[in-house]
Amino acid sequence: MVQVTLEPLKIPDRLRMPAVFEREWTEPANKLRPRILLPAAFTGPSPIAPGEHRVFIVFNRKGGAGKTTTTLELACAWAAMGYTVRIIDADPQDAGLTGWLAPVYPEGLDPKHRLTLKNVMYGEAGLDEATYYTTRYKNLYIVPSYEDCAVVEYDPAVNGERTLRRAIKRSEAPVDITIVDCPPKVGKLSTFTLAIGGEVLVPSQLSGLDKKSNEPLRRTIADAQEEYDVRVRAAVLTAWGKTIISRSVGNEMAEHYPDALVCPVRRSVDATTAPDENQSIREYNKRSTTTRDFDQLGHMLVAPRGAAE
Ligand SMILES: Nc1ncnc2c1ncn2[C@@H]1O[C@H](COP(=O)(O)OP(=O)(O)OP(=O)(O)O)[C@@H](O)[C@H]1O
Ligand SMILES: [Mg+2]
Repeated sequence: MVQVTLEPLKIPDRLRMPAVFEREWTEPANKLRPRILLPAAFTGPSPIAPGEHRVFIVFNRKGGAGKTTTTLELACAWAAMGYTVRIIDADPQDAGLTGWLAPVYPEGLDPKHRLTLKNVMYGEAGLDEATYYTTRYKNLYIVPSYEDCAVVEYDPAVNGERTLRRAIKRSEAPVDITIVDCPPKVGKLSTFTLAIGGEVLVPSQLSGLDKKSNEPLRRTIADAQEEYDVRVRAAVLTAWGKTIISRSVGNEMAEHYPDALVCPVRRSVDATTAPDENQSIREYNKRSTTTRDFDQLGHMLVAPRGAAE
């Protein structure tokens, strides 16, 4: 397999979304302007120092919110900045990142003996042993999971809420960023991922049904915050467009997560087509609006190494 090296994008200023200290879209829906809403206390991103390890959890229990897309595109944006990024695929369904990224396993290894997230959850393997360093993209690693990982949900033997948290703490792999893609489920895997603690990113599609799930989602995160160091860093408005519901969900997310960025990621056909080519949107079309928006979000969360703080 020829690995793809992801490169930084050159985005002209006129194509960037403005980042503003506002918490509300007030204009009519047909005149809606995409912009990144900053929280009052926003001080700008910092680069990751050598030896430092940042953990992001992409969380929403609603199906189809944009979790997997957000995880991959941010991971690619950070890999293009020169960071090493490990994705933990915590979603056992087939339509996930393990299938999308196709990790390369040692030649001749019987699939039965692959170490995956399931082995980590059962305490049979450390996170580093279950990390595969060769994927389609250079500097992008993955802890894979397959459908058999779903057993975790109903096996009482898996009860360590802090298993994943401990596994990440013990990891010594040369990784700057770990990003976790959560399953669309109220269950152990999603609870255990929040228990890791760290920076949470909440994607939501812009529909009435997604809006209905956003208040229970807020409560779930608030409950987790009582026990764990969970900070919501960004709400990601998936497949954003100039609609009344985009404005309404966007404004609600700004209210629910007052300390978070609220970032539109515009709708495009590239986003829906890229997985069919087994490519990230960034690789499929580096000029896509969706690629640019994710790149911009990536830069709002983490500064490139060498950037002034
Ligand atoms: N910017 C975008 N424009 C158009 N479609 C998008 C965009 N972002 C995501 N989508 C589409 O939305 C759908 C759901 O996205 P995705 O699979 O990332 O969500 P998910 O939350 O991971 O889903 P699940 O809950 O099943 O794990 C996919 O078909 C994806 O291609
Ligand atoms: Mg998903």
